[in-house]
Amino acid sequence: MKWLILFHVLGATIWVGGHLILSLGFLPQALRHRDISIILNFEKYFERIGLPALLVQAITGVSMALIYVPFSAWGSLETSHHVYLWIKLGLLIATLALGIHARLFIIPRLTTEKLSLLALHIILVTMLGVALVITGMSFRFTYI
Ligand code: HEM
Repeated sequence: MKWLILFHVLGATIWVGGHLILSLGFLPQALRHRDISIILNFEKYFERIGLPALLVQAITGVSMALIYVPFSAWGSLETSHHVYLWIKLGLLIATLALGIHARLFIIPRLTTEKLSLLALHIILVTMLGVALVITGMSFRFTYI
């Protein structure tokens, strides 16, 4: 469990930290100067580290969730841990849906006109990341 938490927290720092830097640092610059290359350059380098980090989150997250809630009990919402588990999976699916939509349909044909649509995706993925951190912390602070 110790190692799972370590890799889960390291993955979270990369995924959520990277998106906070993008949302609060690079995105406002790109919007101010209407310069898509600022985002594209960040994405080019972040993708290589961010996507493996997200995969680590999913693997370590599901492994830890199985310790809290055995797979046979995933169908119920009996305790707070069951609820957090499904909130986390829902947040992960929403993150993947937004990421795939941006990667396949916005980034390849990105123009300055579409910058605000990409900005919306970036802000939503960042908020989902923060929500994943808060839900993750809730597991530890609930004793039922
Ligand atoms: C980008 C995706 C994710 C992020 C950023 C994230 C972030 C976090 C953070 C920061 C913690 C707190 C760790 C601690 O208290 O030491 C945590 C805990 C946890 N996360 Fe995630 N998480 C993600 C995805 C997932 C997924 C997909 C699952 C699976 C359902 C999951 C299951 C858990 C569990 C079970 C814990 C409790 C670990 C413990 O403290 O005992 N996480 N998460």
